[in-house]
Amino acid sequence: MCGIIGILGSHEVAPVILDALRRLEYRGYDSAGIATIHEGRLELRRATGKLMNLSDVLVCEPLRGKAGIGHTRWATHGAPSVENAHPHRSGRVAVVHNGIIENFRELREELSAAGCRFASETDTEVIVHLTDRHLGMGLGPVEAARATLACLKGAFALAFLFEGEGDLLIAARHGSPLAIGHGEGEMYLGSDAIALAPMTNRLTYLEEGDWAVLTRQGVTIHDSQGSPVQRAITVIDVENARIDKAGHRHFMAKEMAEQPSVIKAVIDHYVAEETEEPAMPLGVDFATADRVVMVACGTAFHACQVAKYWFEQLARIPVEIDIASEFRYRDPVLGEGDIVIVVSQSGETADTLAALRHVAGRVARTLAVVNVPTSSIAREADVVIPMHAGPEIGVASTKAFTAQLLVLLLLALKCGRDRDRMEPGHCARLLSDIRSIPGFMSQILDREADYERIAEVLGECDDVLFLGRGVMFPMALEAALKLKEISYIHAEAYAAGELKHGPIALIDKGLPVVVLAPRDGLFEKTVSNMQEVMARHGPVVLLTDAEGAAGAGAVSHCVVLPEVPEVVAPFAYAVPAQMLAYHAALARGTDVDQPRNLAKSVTVE
Ligand code: F6R
Repeated sequence: MCGIIGILGSHEVAPVILDALRRLEYRGYDSAGIATIHEGRLELRRATGKLMNLSDVLVCEPLRGKAGIGHTRWATHGAPSVENAHPHRSGRVAVVHNGIIENFRELREELSAAGCRFASETDTEVIVHLTDRHLGMGLGPVEAARATLACLKGAFALAFLFEGEGDLLIAARHGSPLAIGHGEGEMYLGSDAIALAPMTNRLTYLEEGDWAVLTRQGVTIHDSQGSPVQRAITVIDVENARIDKAGHRHFMAKEMAEQPSVIKAVIDHYVAEETEEPAMPLGVDFATADRVVMVACGTAFHACQVAKYWFEQLARIPVEIDIASEFRYRDPVLGEGDIVIVVSQSGETADTLAALRHVAGRVARTLAVVNVPTSSIAREADVVIPMHAGPEIGVASTKAFTAQLLVLLLLALKCGRDRDRMEPGHCARLLSDIRSIPGFMSQILDREADYERIAEVLGECDDVLFLGRGVMFPMALEAALKLKEISYIHAEAYAAGELKHGPIALIDKGLPVVVLAPRDGLFEKTVSNMQEVMARHGPVVLLTDAEGAAGAGAVSHCVVLPEVPEVVAPFAYAVPAQMLAYHAALARGTDVDQPRNLAKSVTVE
């Protein structure tokens, strides 16, 4: 959420910053801007909308200079406009900010009373006015920035640039991620490794409360008390930070297509061939655990909802799941025997990170299932279980979702074995089912024409209802989320049995109902609910297997999926759900990879 970049370079930096912002655009795309220092003078350019608009501004009004900062915005305070775009400037200082300054109203009132004129509606602008005032009181840039940081409450990652200071950047981290990049006679800062990947693979991640002074010679880091501290340099895998669409029209299309190979990579990492046991994770034993608690947001939460069924069925352990933003504010009852699993693609989601901090030291162990192994959540959990999905750039999560599902299924298997609830033979059979996932996913991906045909119908509707039972209920929730976030069609999902407790009132011939129903033990019950829809002229789109299709009656549309073992059915039904959303979005001409109002990494509450 908001991407930040800063460079002290040896060549012109504006094009390099623009390029880095392109890699950060998944974090926000309401507006963007760059500030540089050229011959001591601070100058900035800003534009609303996609980065292309800023690029056009720079063609007409180029920015010179070898030191600069850049920003791509996801609006929190103030609509997307040039005035609200970052960098913000007051006098000699410019700032880019990711996060929220919670006490900005008080600060703004004080500054206004003291005569400051505000040019934007943002919370960020107080930072530049405060810093400029501190400079005006005779403080140097470092002391001025430090005095400003002491006034701020909230979550922020900041970069400061000062007029007359072509070899100085100041960075600060308080609740939002920030990394320092080390170059040869150049230094960088950025919101993530992806931003800095073409420039350097040597990164230092700032810890909570750290602030840093960068020159081309290096960086000095201070902790929240102001004491100088050493933070390790991590060498990152640049290949893993490379991003391109590999010939696909959208990142989402590429990421959906990658799922068979991602699933195979997860299997290769976590299933030792010779032992027929999940080989994960080191240092966690579920045998003595009283309970598993899973916490996440959005799609990652849906993965937890599916996993609850697996842990309960395969390991007979009590499981509690919660949305991270609710969990930490309801004062949850925690026990020393609890194992808490947080799930996050980005590893930076503010609520999930806060939930992890809330339980730290109060439970037996914290596990983080994350896609970005250098993320804040990965660094703070007791045990990290990377999901090995590779960079996910499309805002709608696809391959990370199925990778999360698989990591959680393997954990459930391990839990069942640790607790002696599962015979080795049963575990081996389930692992063999798991090995079949890449094959059937490829087959399902190949059915593009089917999805396109149905998506055209969905694309013409204002509302769509999704139904499922058992694990297909959270899968229906995920299908509805995918459809609404990228096509803007209003979609809801219900447990099929809940239909007659309210939502059935919505059914008429204009409301398509998508039913996820493999031929399993619950199929007949779901068919009854489907009949209730059809009796009221609701058009039904059925996702099922051949046996299910034979027993379902005359639905409006049916996608016949391969018959797959029950435990791995969520992997089969995830793909058509994603595909229907993708093709409905194409039919409606929306921005698939960067849907309105959304950002990939949600680093604010
Ligand atoms: C939906 C989607 C979001 C994320 C959610 C959590 O397609 O991507 O709902 O799942 O914002 O993000 P992470 O997994 O990064 O914590």
